[in-house]
Amino acid sequence: MFKYVCLSLSLFLLALNGNLVQGTPTGAPLIACADMTPQHGVPPQNSTSPFGTTPSSTSIAQGSTITLTLTGSGTFKGFLVIAFDNANQAAPIGVFSAVSSGQTLNCRTGPTPMNAATHIDNLDKTSVTMDWTAPAGFVGTVLIKTSFVQDVATFWVATESTLITVA
Ligand SMILES: *[C@@H]1O[C@H](CO)[C@@H](O)[C@H](O)[C@H]1NC(C)=O
Repeated sequence: MFKYVCLSLSLFLLALNGNLVQGTPTGAPLIACADMTPQHGVPPQNSTSPFGTTPSSTSIAQGSTITLTLTGSGTFKGFLVIAFDNANQAAPIGVFSAVSSGQTLNCRTGPTPMNAATHIDNLDKTSVTMDWTAPAGFVGTVLIKTSFVQDVATFWVATESTLITVA
């Protein structure tokens, strides 16, 4: 059973739907790479996410670096960001760096390490920035997916960015 996010176990031990709900305040574990879903014992929100991920440019050269900004209305505690080739969303691509209020993660399904970004604490955040570097030799369209955790029972999975063209 996997889980990611969120809240200090000592502060938040909630019994919801008969399940023990807990979180990982220091970031998503590797297992969360698979479906980007926190296992909190409650379902994801189905509404449109109030949070999104905006790239600093939507048309870039291969191998170049852009900044991604995670923000929205209200605050979020946790996040997991992964970039995909929009034509084949099987494995993460590219490399993350300089994650504010966060850290990089090495999803094992990706060809290179540091292919995801996640939180490092459970403080409320209004904005998080990070750099993402496209793979050298990759030409195509990139989709950034971000899961946002507002609190232990409220999260949105794999929110999609606008597409980024890499030429
Ligand atoms: C989202 O939809 C699923 C399927 O209908 C449902 O089981 C789940 O409870 C919904 N999530 C919320 C937060 O209501």
